[in-house]
Amino acid sequence: MLNVSMKNVSFYYNSDEGAVLGDINMEVKAGDFVCLLGQSGCGKSTLLRLLAGLEKPTGGQMLVDGKAINGASLQRGVVFQDYGLFPWMTAGENITIALEYRFPEMKKSERKERALHWMRNVDMDESLFDKLPGELSGGQKQRCGIARAFAIDPPILLMDEPFGSLDAVTKSKLQDLVLRLWQQEGDKRKTIFFVTHEVDEALLLATHISVFSQSPASIMYSHSFDEGIKPTRKNMHTEPEIVDLRNYLIKLIHKDAEERAYK
Ligand SMILES: Nc1ncnc2c1ncn2[C@@H]1O[C@H](COP(=O)(O)OP(=O)(O)OP(=O)(O)O)[C@@H](O)[C@H]1O
Ligand SMILES: [Mg+2]
Repeated sequence: MLNVSMKNVSFYYNSDEGAVLGDINMEVKAGDFVCLLGQSGCGKSTLLRLLAGLEKPTGGQMLVDGKAINGASLQRGVVFQDYGLFPWMTAGENITIALEYRFPEMKKSERKERALHWMRNVDMDESLFDKLPGELSGGQKQRCGIARAFAIDPPILLMDEPFGSLDAVTKSKLQDLVLRLWQQEGDKRKTIFFVTHEVDEALLLATHISVFSQSPASIMYSHSFDEGIKPTRKNMHTEPEIVDLRNYLIKLIHKDAEERAYK
């Protein structure tokens, strides 16, 4: 349960090419599910890289419970779009090796039991434990990535378009799965940063949506579901408050992209 604070965060990879992130400000409460929404190339993955500690802000501050992020840490887990599994290890070993790193004192048998527990939790058949990632479908690989992330139990979870390459049905199943896993942890639930360019995905998952402008990125709109109606698959196209918000977000992203294109 950790609060995250970003104050005037700016970043460039290369000073000749200009800033990728302009001025990002965000206060995130522990247990929030934050969706970072924006067009391709606006800097969403870059912000996750800063949160992961893989890059340092060029300006401003990025704090977790008041302390500056300094390098990668087991307190922040990552789920990637391309699954991030070691191809030479079985699905089960991909989870148990992460457990070995996270809990070095844990017995081998306990690691295996915990890995199987999380495979069951993400609806993966136990027979997949001994399969290599190359023998799994995209959906099964991403279930394995999610099982691994939850098994090592980081208080902060960073997810970068994790369902971007999956078909619509598999994607909706995995969206429901992540929501269920996050909700079932109750008061101890993780703080999640979830990158997406899909408005519907953000509406469905987020407690808080931050919309990025094109680069240099800043947050051009924020919406919190602390109060008011929470979007669901059922009400997304019928509830006037949600329909208006959905239309507004779609227009906002398109308008920003068009304005930049004709500059
Ligand atoms: N390692 C890097 N070195 C230099 N420039 C980079 C690097 N990674 C990304 N960029 C540039 O930073 C900008 C933002 O990229 P980023 O990957 O953060 O965008 P994104 O919003 O995640 O896009 P997408 O939705 O397509 O994944 C782009 O212009 C990209 O070319
Ligand atoms: Mg990206």
